[in-house]
Amino acid sequence: MRTKVAIIGAGPAGLLLSQLLHVAGVDCVVLEQRNRSHVEGRIRAGVLEQIGVDLLERVGVDARMRREGLPHEGFSLAVDGERFRIDLQALTSGSKMMVYGQTEVTKDLIEACHHRGTPLVFDARRVALHDVESAKPYVTYDEDGESRRLDCDFIAGCDGFHGVSRASIPGDLRQEFERDYPFGWLGILADVPPCDEELIYSNHERGFALASMRSPTRSRYYVQCGLDERLDDWPDDRIWDELAIRLGAQAAGSMIRGPSIEKGIAPLRSFVSEPMRYGRLFLAGDAAHIVPPTGAKGLNLAASDVSFLADGLIAFYHNANADGLDDYSRRALARVWKAERFSWWFTGLTHRFPDMDPFARKMQMAELDYIRGSRAAQTTLAENYVGLPLG
Ligand code: FAD
Ligand code: PHB
Repeated sequence: MRTKVAIIGAGPAGLLLSQLLHVAGVDCVVLEQRNRSHVEGRIRAGVLEQIGVDLLERVGVDARMRREGLPHEGFSLAVDGERFRIDLQALTSGSKMMVYGQTEVTKDLIEACHHRGTPLVFDARRVALHDVESAKPYVTYDEDGESRRLDCDFIAGCDGFHGVSRASIPGDLRQEFERDYPFGWLGILADVPPCDEELIYSNHERGFALASMRSPTRSRYYVQCGLDERLDDWPDDRIWDELAIRLGAQAAGSMIRGPSIEKGIAPLRSFVSEPMRYGRLFLAGDAAHIVPPTGAKGLNLAASDVSFLADGLIAFYHNANADGLDDYSRRALARVWKAERFSWWFTGLTHRFPDMDPFARKMQMAELDYIRGSRAAQTTLAENYVGLPLG
């Protein structure tokens, strides 16, 4: 088989790239190691920046999001249960967020691939990249027990943090930057109405909590937990009790409890691998970087990466101009690092650290109080939260 761009991974990065290329008439093939129901079922992010919404519109995959997504004009910060609002729309000259689950984005993009005939291979096993530093790279993989070879001009490594693409770049040609956090997020999904119309991020003495949602009848909640804690330590009742305390009396009063339909613990990490290009291989999304989920930036960075990469590939094929590809890593990393900084800062502002002394806690309280009283500080928070310009 031969194609122009071999895309490794059918997460949001790989699927969105496939559609950006498809609508521009650039052939590609997507290779995904898992099956379709696994990919569609993974519960992850839930909040899209305007840039993500615009990209879905550009590829014509926005109809269901327009119908079912929930535009949000602000969110609340809670400090030991007391709330104040960040008015995103007023602070950023009109920007909003769109609450629409990553599962739904993924389903819509897979549906578009099938509808349009974009080749998408599920259950592609033992994917391996070859000759990426040459002008004739290729990918090998197993499908239905048979080995296959896909020749291509370029490879897009969109295979997430644990994929093979980043590992195909020699260690001495890349640099990794990393920060682990001494806690995780325990997340639950429940078919109950959300406790508020907007998201609530809470800094509480007992630890961080977040009230989010997927729809008017489906809630998504998180509590900060220790890295050594197990799901068995957290029966549903304990999670609801903890959320009621950490989110405060107002949220607790309107919180409707119900059985969890999904429950999981995720570690928090900041990670960047530079550069995002090696020869004819380009990394995008979690394959190149991870942010802690506090700023809701992971999925959105995957979208901005592939938008830059698609621009570069389209200019290469339509105008024989490689400038966009040559500039891809620099351009993507400039935006990535600002989102890394924001996610790291917002995590530090809202979480309880095990080694936190009373002074450190006072610093958090003072900064939150400053944000509450300062339009300038709120503007800084808001413009990062809604997403910095593509640049
Ligand atoms: P992924 O979604 O990881 O997709 C990579 C794809 O590549 C997968 O389908 C994988 O199966 C496939 N793959 C991997 N290896 C191979 C291989 N060798 N061959 C072929 N295919 C391969 N972000 C937020 O903004 N908010 C959140 O609340 C949030 N929660 C998260 C919870 C969890 C548990 C995780 C892991 C991430 C979370 N994120 C969150 C981050 C966000 O989901 C990611 O940033 C986003 O999924 C990145 O998309 P991606 O396409 O780059 O990578
Ligand atoms: C979510 O709804 O899953 C979500 C929302 C906001 C975040 C992180 C996760 O910052």
